[in-house]
Amino acid sequence: MENIINVKHPLLTNLVSKLRSIYTNSYDFRKYLSEVGRILLVEALKNEKMKEKELEIWIGKRSFPVLEEEKYVFIPILRAGLPMLDGVLEMIPLAKSGFLAIKRNEETLESVLYYDRVPPLKGKTAVILDPMVATGGSLDYAINVVKEKNPERIISLNVIGAPEGLKRISEKHPDVQVYIAQIDEKLNDKGYIIPGIGDAGDRAFNTG
Ligand code: PRP
Ligand code: URA
Repeated sequence: MENIINVKHPLLTNLVSKLRSIYTNSYDFRKYLSEVGRILLVEALKNEKMKEKELEIWIGKRSFPVLEEEKYVFIPILRAGLPMLDGVLEMIPLAKSGFLAIKRNEETLESVLYYDRVPPLKGKTAVILDPMVATGGSLDYAINVVKEKNPERIISLNVIGAPEGLKRISEKHPDVQVYIAQIDEKLNDKGYIIPGIGDAGDRAFNTG
């Protein structure tokens, strides 16, 4: 699973532990998801190529490295990926955003797409955002939709994954770099991650 990068940092682990607590309310839950998203993005773009741009500064004109912010397209998977968008947009405010809504059928565990509002991705770096990789069905679906739009590169930022789902993504999409904060033990017989954080969408939007 070479393309699965388990990002290790005490600040990340601390945030994930806060997400696990049943006493974390939905406001804080969204805030922690946003912070995890931001830290994962920092790691994912660690070796990013930069462009030289001439800037006017206090001593005249000089060239400095800048990121091409509009090259990035953030794609949260609704609902639970939405709070992660705030965090990454704080880091790259001129990035574009696209939206995919995918719901897992809780009986069959099949993923169903019900909204696709992703802009053209040719020449772009697509960054998919979803806290949970359980069976991997939703992320697999999202990656397939994104690949049809021919981006230059695809990155996925995720909070917690189960080994089963991550193996599926690694085998089907070895070309996608997955940055994940925590790899947990397993799935239960209902497809929930153990120990996990429960239903991330319900917890983020207070519908549990
Ligand atoms: C959750 C989560 C992932 C998916 C993971 O979404 O945000 O998208 O489940 O499960 P999988 O790997 O088995 O596909 P959910 O379907 O609960 O929708 P929601 O975010 O609207 O609650
Ligand atoms: N979706 C969630 O929100 N949590 C899980 O553990 C599995 C799927």
